[in-house]
Parts: sequence; C-alpha cells; structure tokens
Amino acid sequence: MDMFVIEGGVPLAGTVAVSGAKNSALPLMAAALAAEGKTVLRGVPRLVDVDTLSLLLQTLGVQVRRDAEDALTLEVVDEQPHVADYELVRRMRAGFCVLGPLLARRGRACVSLPGGCNIGDRPIELHLKGLRALGAEIAIERGYVVATAKRLRGTHVDLRGPLGSTVTGTCNVMIAAALADGESTIESAACEPEVVDLGKLLNAMGARIGGLGTSILRVQGVRHLAAAEHTVIPDRIEAATLMIAAAITRGHVTLTGVRTDQLTNVLDKLRQIGVPIEVGQDTVEVRGGLPLRPVDCVALPYPGLPTDLQAQLTALLATVPGVSVVTDKIFPDRFMHAPELVRMGARIRREGNSAVIDGVERLSGACVMACDLRASAALVLAGLAASGTTVIRRIYHLDRGYERLESKLSRLGAKIIRTTDEPANFPESLRLAEESAQPIRKFDLPEQIDGPKWFQQLRSDRLKSRSDSLER
Ligand code: EPZ
Repeated sequence: MDMFVIEGGVPLAGTVAVSGAKNSALPLMAAALAAEGKTVLRGVPRLVDVDTLSLLLQTLGVQVRRDAEDALTLEVVDEQPHVADYELVRRMRAGFCVLGPLLARRGRACVSLPGGCNIGDRPIELHLKGLRALGAEIAIERGYVVATAKRLRGTHVDLRGPLGSTVTGTCNVMIAAALADGESTIESAACEPEVVDLGKLLNAMGARIGGLGTSILRVQGVRHLAAAEHTVIPDRIEAATLMIAAAITRGHVTLTGVRTDQLTNVLDKLRQIGVPIEVGQDTVEVRGGLPLRPVDCVALPYPGLPTDLQAQLTALLATVPGVSVVTDKIFPDRFMHAPELVRMGARIRREGNSAVIDGVERLSGACVMACDLRASAALVLAGLAASGTTVIRRIYHLDRGYERLESKLSRLGAKIIRTTDEPANFPESLRLAEESAQPIRKFDLPEQIDGPKWFQQLRSDRLKSRSDSLER
C-alpha cells in the first residue's frame, strides 16, 4: 500500500494542465454499451476508476483499448453478458451506470447494488423510478438489481430526490430513454456538465436529446445508436483542487485546459475568500500572497458549489483565521476529512450538515489517513500548506480520481513523494519524543529507495535516530 510524504510550506509556482473529467469519462464509457461499432473517447484520464470500469465493460462483452494517441476505444463484441458483478461495482459506484444502457440495448440487466460509501447514503431509487417509468420490470434479488424490458416506451418522469436530482441517475435514464419507443420528458434532471457531455455523445451517436444543461430533458427515442468519437470535458473538480493548492500555499500557478464557464461559482467563491484570480480563454491564473478572508460555503447541485469540492475548501478555510462555515446539502455526512484535518491542528467542529471552522495561521504536519477520494485531496492540500512533514496513508482513494496528482504538484515545486507505507519510510519528525526514545524493534530495512534529496535526508535522520536509540 502506498503513502504520500509531504514537506509543507512551499508556495507552488508554475503551469499545470488539467486532465479529462473522471465523472464524465465514466458514463461516456458506459454509453458505449448502447451503440453498435467502435466508440472512441479522447482525453480519458488514466485513473483507477477508469481501469475498474474498463474491466467491468470487458466482462460485459466490450473490447476496451488505448490506441497510439492514448484515446480509449470501446467496441461491443458480445451482447450476451448482462451481469455487472458485485466485485467490480462495489469498488466503484459509477459501475451502476451500465444499468441503463444494458437494459436499453440488451433488454435485460443484472447489476449489483453499489454498496456502502464513506461519504454517506448513496440510494439508487431514483434510477429505478425512471427505468420503471420507461416500462422496465425491476426486482432486487440477493443484492442485485434485476431488470428486464422487451421494449422501453417513452414517458414522463420526475427525478427529483429529497436532496436534489441524481447525476448518474439522470445518465442511466437518459441513455435508456434515447432507445425507447416514442418521446420522453425527464423532469428535475441533473444539469451537471458531465450529464451534458454524455448527452452530446448520445446525440453524436444518433440520439435526439434536447434541453441538455437544463432540468427538463426532452428525448425522442430512436431504434439504434451508432458508435461515435468524442473528447471528454476537462475535470472541473481537479481544476478547482489545483486552484486551491495554489491558494493554500500562497503560490502563483496557471492552469491550462480549463472550462472556466463550468467553474463560475467556484471562481466567485475563491475571489470572495480573497484569492486573486485571472481568467483567460481556457486558463486560470491564481496568485497567492494576499491575506485571505473567512467565508461560508454551501455545496449544492450544479451550478452551485460542487459537493466534490467541499473537503478541499474546508482545508483552505482551515488555514484562514476567522470563522467559516461549510455546509453540504447533497451529502450531509461528507466530513470524514474533518477529524484528520484536526490532527493537523485545524479547529473544526461538526454541526449537522455543516463544519464550523475556526481558521488557524498554520497547520502542522502529522500522520493522517485518507478515507475517500475528495477527503484525500483535502489532506494533500493541507499537507502542502502545513509546517513540517505530513504522511497521508491509504492514498489508493486518491488514485481513483486524480491523474498523477503528485507528479503535477512536484512539477509546481511541491515536496511530495509517493512511497510504500512501511515503518522505515516514516519520517522521524512524526514520531513522538518518548516513542522515538524507546528502543525500536530492529527491522530488516529495505534497500535504500530512490527519491529527492529532502526525502533521503528525512530517511537518514530516521535511521540515525534509530541506531542512537538502540545504542542507549
Ligand atoms: C455523482 O454521484 C458523482 N459521481 C459524485 O462524485 C458527486 O458527488 C455526485 O454526483 C453529486 O454531484 C459520478 O458522477 C461518478 P447523485 P451520484 O445520485 O450520481 C441523492 C466524486 O468524488 N439520491 O447525484 O452517485 C443522493 O443521496 C464523486 O467524484 C437519491 O436520493 O450522486 C445525494 O444526496 C463522489 N436517490 C444526491 O441525490 C437516488 O436514487 C446526489 O446524488 C440517487 C441519489
């Protein structure tokens, strides 16, 4: 298992390109199930979730390849398989996105319920409501959604849930409606850019979908969808995370390949905090240095502040003296990052679906545990800003949704290294005094690993203090 070791306090500087959007690439890949021929997706980021979905699609008769230009090609070669296995869907909820296309194209689907999640309840009843409205027979058997439909029929369905619409639910129902008989109206549809991106691919495949980007989608069903080519939109959450990395280290960073029109609310909020931001055609320049101001943030459905950015904003505001309140109206329990930030000296208390933050001048490095994708990103941001060394364990959570984040940050000057999670790689500075004074059990130390000078120094201090304590 890997961990990050970060030496904080370095203001980031330089230029960084934003990768393709994870939450767009995944439904786009699932849509390939509904089309005849070879779908080509450009700009698909290299992520664990993409690999997991590729595996799942291969079990469903889809050949998935990366071509010479790094585009992802997906070709349906066998339409018999219809079971999406628990082992793969439990690793990545977005696997549930295969339900709509499988049902629409093959008339049957058996998809594992996604299972638990660290950010809170993740129901799927709205997905099933939409598919049932289109005429599907659906039962829940032994942890699986078992769905059949001879021919889906156009209908009117409202996807409003108690906490807003559903992004992947809209994706599932939109794909199914695209192949239904007759016209469908999907009310309270999610308006996220990732849903719009999927709608554009479906229309390129021959679907007839209107109202993309609004909460009312009108879909005229067609008999067939033909494979198409499409470029994934940039990842707005990665972009915002990198902007916050510049702001929290008081650095000066320019992001390229940004869809700034999809980040209006985020840019406004960062400016409200006092982060100087220059916006170009597809670039964003973030300058540090100025004193920042505490603010309140509320995570809402698009175009509101994204819930996927709530943890990162919490990390930033934890370093801004004064009281800020961060509220998540989509995932009220999405605060697993808060106790880990408190280990770094943050002053945060939970109040229902809010975190009340009393910002401090400086966080201090500590050993912390990543627990979900965006919480991991928040801990990286905090480590970049903290004084001293931070170790972040279980960074496999981060690898699900950020493409080579440590390389991007290193190129901006961050002192961050990925290493194996084992005692020898644990920096001395993170040991409590009495703990390091105790005679440490002799380990068979692994051979010296590579890494930048600062990391070698950290490691040799550790080894030296260990031999001293053994001699005492
Ligand atoms: C998508 O998840 C994203 N994932 C999430 O990003 C994102 O946080 C979320 O949308 C909200 O924006 C992907 O796109 C792969 P929802 P999804 O269904 O579709 C409630 C990340 O970090 N709800 O839009 O699963 C639900 O409880 C991930 O990249 C119902 O009530 O989320 C929540 O409160 C995490 N009934 C709200 O709707 C349902 O049937 C939004 O959920 C479905 C959802």
